[in-house]
Amino acid sequence: MEKIIVLGGKGGVGKSTISAATAVVLSDHLPEKKILLISFDMAHNLTDLFNSEIGNKLTPITDNLWAIEPDPNEYAKKYTNNLITKMKALMKEMPIVGLIPQLEKFMDTTFTADSIPLALKNAMFFQEILDAEGGQSMQFDIIIADFPPTANMITLFEIPEDQVKVLLKYSLNFYNSIKEAVRKFSKMFRTLIKPFDNYEKRKELGKEIFQMLVDLEERGERITELIHTVGSLRLVSIAEKPSFEEIKRARDLTKKYIKLEGVHINMITPQSKKCDFCNNIRSIQLNYVEKIRNEFSNLKIWESNRLEKEPFGLNGLKSLAYEVYGKSIKAEDILNP
Ligand SMILES: Nc1ncnc2c1ncn2[C@@H]1O[C@H](COP(=O)(O)OP(=O)(O)OP(=O)(O)O)[C@@H](O)[C@H]1O
Ligand SMILES: [Mg+2]
Repeated sequence: MEKIIVLGGKGGVGKSTISAATAVVLSDHLPEKKILLISFDMAHNLTDLFNSEIGNKLTPITDNLWAIEPDPNEYAKKYTNNLITKMKALMKEMPIVGLIPQLEKFMDTTFTADSIPLALKNAMFFQEILDAEGGQSMQFDIIIADFPPTANMITLFEIPEDQVKVLLKYSLNFYNSIKEAVRKFSKMFRTLIKPFDNYEKRKELGKEIFQMLVDLEERGERITELIHTVGSLRLVSIAEKPSFEEIKRARDLTKKYIKLEGVHINMITPQSKKCDFCNNIRSIQLNYVEKIRNEFSNLKIWESNRLEKEPFGLNGLKSLAYEVYGKSIKAEDILNP
């Protein structure tokens, strides 16, 4: 993994469209690199952007560009199913206890994918994609992640550090509550079950469950490290006050997770020969452009005008890329501004 580009900012400022445009133009200029565009927005809109059906599987867009709108439930299910299967196996090894139907039902209903918070589900997917050992069939050189507005984006960064621990604790509590019930039960029937008790097998299964949780935590640490080293945040704003305030906040909130490398000022009203109203709007916006430039003077600033047509499809996205990055685009300037 060489680079993870993350676009953030207020709602509706062009994060998804610029993410897609960036992915398309990088795929054009770097044919030898494998690029992945991921949408982490629940209101997925990649399908609209590319005029082609993109769902919960890696969908080829060009020879070296794939897109995906992950279904976070699927990734959470993988984890919970795996855990439940192991727990049930553990139960089965306990004579009598394995025969209590309520216990199995309790497991099925308590530890479900639905009980995991959405941000955590997204993180499980993000981690699987980012992690070399995650079992993904493909390794990507560049990932471009389209995030929902700022607050939700932060939860996603926090996850490898904090939420994995939360899940760990959650799983352990769950495991312990079952163990406790089993222990009480076994005590009552100690003499009865003793001859059937396969302690070694149980110990082995217990170890496996614990290892699953440890692996998860270790993976969280690897991801945090990866985002620290190859992550690159770019904030998108329009030239208006609320959006400008939002990227200042986002800069502070994300500081400890990911390096901020640039700011997009999008949808600036173009100069017009016929429209005084447009020119007035433009001059107000240019004030904000100045303010944003001053505030983020140490960073690369990309300015882009509002296009006459909404940038849809590969060609639309390419025209937006030229508008954003200039006519003589250099991939290197996009990757390392
Ligand atoms: N430079 C531009 N010129 C014209 N239209 C644009 C430009 N940038 C974005 N748009 C349009 O603005 C709308 C909002 O863009 P987009 O969906 O990318 O924003 P977003 O920040 O991802 O929104 P959300 O926060 O809802 O995910 C879209 O209809 C898009 O086509
Ligand atoms: Mg979006």
